[in-house]
Amino acid sequence: MDRSRLQACLEQEQQRFVTRHPRSQQLYQEAQSHWLSGVPMHWMVKWAGAFPLFVDHASGAYFTDVDGLDYLDLCLGDTGAMTGHAPQATVNAIAQQIAHGITYMLPTEDVLWIGRELERRFGLPYWQLALTATDANRFAIRLARQITGRKYILVFNWCYHGTVDETFVTLDNGIATSRRGNIGPAVDPSITTRVIEFNDIPALEAALASGDVACVLAEPVMTNIGIVHPQAGFHDALREITRRTGTLLIIDETHTICTSPGGYTAAFNLEPDILTLGKPIAGGVPAAVYGFSAEVAERIRANLGIDRADTGGIGGTLAGNALSVAAMKATLEHVLTQATYDHTIPLAERWAAGVQSIIDEYHLPWHVTQLGCRAEYWFCEQAPQNGGEAVASMDDELDHYMHLAALNRGILLTPFHNMALIAPQTTSADIDFHTEVFSECVSQLFSESA
Ligand SMILES: Cc1ncc(COP(=O)(O)O)c(C=O)c1O
Repeated sequence: MDRSRLQACLEQEQQRFVTRHPRSQQLYQEAQSHWLSGVPMHWMVKWAGAFPLFVDHASGAYFTDVDGLDYLDLCLGDTGAMTGHAPQATVNAIAQQIAHGITYMLPTEDVLWIGRELERRFGLPYWQLALTATDANRFAIRLARQITGRKYILVFNWCYHGTVDETFVTLDNGIATSRRGNIGPAVDPSITTRVIEFNDIPALEAALASGDVACVLAEPVMTNIGIVHPQAGFHDALREITRRTGTLLIIDETHTICTSPGGYTAAFNLEPDILTLGKPIAGGVPAAVYGFSAEVAERIRANLGIDRADTGGIGGTLAGNALSVAAMKATLEHVLTQATYDHTIPLAERWAAGVQSIIDEYHLPWHVTQLGCRAEYWFCEQAPQNGGEAVASMDDELDHYMHLAALNRGILLTPFHNMALIAPQTTSADIDFHTEVFSECVSQLFSESA
């Protein structure tokens, strides 16, 4: 592609962004005096544009920024708002609960319904609560280490499971190495973790053969380095090898819950020993769950003394608070339902078809991938089969341009890759609007007449 044309287009979009958002710019400048880099979370500076948009309000599939501009939200809080913003049933449950207290360090009756519902959806009988998917993964790993007495975990190259120390490791020429940007690690993660490429069954066999890996922690489809699907037979092999070697299998459904109400696990009959899920499960209110098989539960019971349960490295004063629990019950009962997926998955297909039609029109060496109500486009011809291939196909400058050009035309994409998530309130007109915007962004770069 013509890189100088891309740079000129990017420059133009950057100017347009600044001109259109004076209020966000002013707030960002004022925030410099009290917030590191002017933002409440340091990675927020990585959004496309010279500063992040400040949000005024959001509802359903849309939000409005402080400059009064409206957006179609295809990021949806990177899955935290996959339920749509402020889903009514969840808001009602929150309002009702909040008037009766927020956190007690005691259970409420809601957990009985939730436990039954989680078993119905995911097939695992025993559950615990956490506040974030990060914590659910951390706790699951601790339990796996405790009951197996093994010290290593195994993850896939370029996975992301939240800010979990053991997972910040990638392959560098085949060697497990601390991931770039890993901030102040307590220990070198190559000491705690084996890392292999996704879809590499021989590497999995070799890494687990020594019988010293407590658990494999995996997204069933990688979603954090772009969507990387498992090859045929991969999950069967993963389950068979982990069982044979006494390694626990933890499936992280935090993003792949986009596949069905029971995530990828239910849709593809996976049989994890432990399952973790956070983000949208309470409609965006901080909450997460982790569940285990009867056998794992029995091993935990046999291994953990209740007398030390409050200081054993698994906890959180606010985990299991009544507000999160009420929000979770309402979200599972009324929002993340089969009817919602029946609406959102066809729209993700429509989104992918729209993008594909423009790729075809311009004969671009790009392609589109979809998983449930999530889809994305890549700047390479063949779908990457693992994290290493995915990273090699990235083009940060082009990414930046596509995000900013979409934002300037009223669409927010998921940052760091070109992903769209569909909310229950998204309409086919919204999807066609995205196709139009995508077409215009591509035309600026490639059209002879532009
Ligand atoms: C698959 C997966 N697991 C866990 C997490 C961590 O979620 P949180 O940041 O809410 O703890 C993420 C975050 O992106 C994720 O994508």
